[in-house]
Amino acid sequence: MMRAASSDLPLVLDRVSLSAGPVTMLDCLSLTITPGAPTLVVGPNGSGKTSLLRLCMGLAAPSAGSVSWGGRTDRGPARRAILFQKPVMLRRSATANVVYALGQAGCPRRLRAARAAELLERVGLLGLANHPARRLSGGEQQRLALARALARDPEILLLDEPTASLDPAATRFVEEIILMAAQSGTKVVMASHDLGQVRRLAGDVVFLVRGRLCAHAASGDFFEYPSTPKAAAFIRGDLVL
Ligand SMILES: Nc1ncnc2c1ncn2[C@@H]1O[C@H](COP(=O)(O)OP(=O)(O)O)[C@@H](O)[C@H]1O
Ligand SMILES: [Mg+2]
Repeated sequence: MMRAASSDLPLVLDRVSLSAGPVTMLDCLSLTITPGAPTLVVGPNGSGKTSLLRLCMGLAAPSAGSVSWGGRTDRGPARRAILFQKPVMLRRSATANVVYALGQAGCPRRLRAARAAELLERVGLLGLANHPARRLSGGEQQRLALARALARDPEILLLDEPTASLDPAATRFVEEIILMAAQSGTKVVMASHDLGQVRRLAGDVVFLVRGRLCAHAASGDFFEYPSTPKAAAFIRGDLVL
């Protein structure tokens, strides 16, 4: 669980394309992700947000161009974690789910119980530690998924619309956990369709349209001085085709 001397940042995508058969998911996209406040990835449905996160995690290899982490292009084991929109839980207790993740992250067996309790506390689930994970509410499951991701002590935490199906109270809870992780030095890269959430969380904003990078700006600039008509339309809430 020691921090490795080498860093996964900056995360650099250099003229990256990603296609599956005839479908182009990402088209010649260049982007540098640096340490600091969360990077929010926005864009209409199908614009490539999930594909971008998969590339950033190393789950997919680019069809063209390159992805590098701290100057390295090997996609192997690293201190990165990804959270998908619908977390899949082991059919066991909340604690067991976190203990399992700790095992996968290489945490010594004798430390796992205490560490799992710490992580559950961090996400406000200590009181539900022994509950079956699959019977937790949507928001609780998303927090448990965050605890599992944080078990890896990630340097980069990739989140794919983690609050998409949550009510406002559950959303706020998840956002607080995300901000805490960011404040403790984890680089958060998060897809969101919720512009209010983007305003609340983002240091910088990556705006995708049909697999292309349409804008990348500091959050304040993205909203106040949209650099393209499409960005302006998206911020107004118009349909962007
Ligand atoms: N495995 C796949 N094979 C073919 N097309 C895909 C695959 N995954 C995603 N797509 C398509 O690629 C585009 C981008 O998808 P995605 O990255 O999921 O966008 P978003 O997350 O912004 O909705 C969409 O048109 C989607 O239908
Ligand atoms: Mg998606």
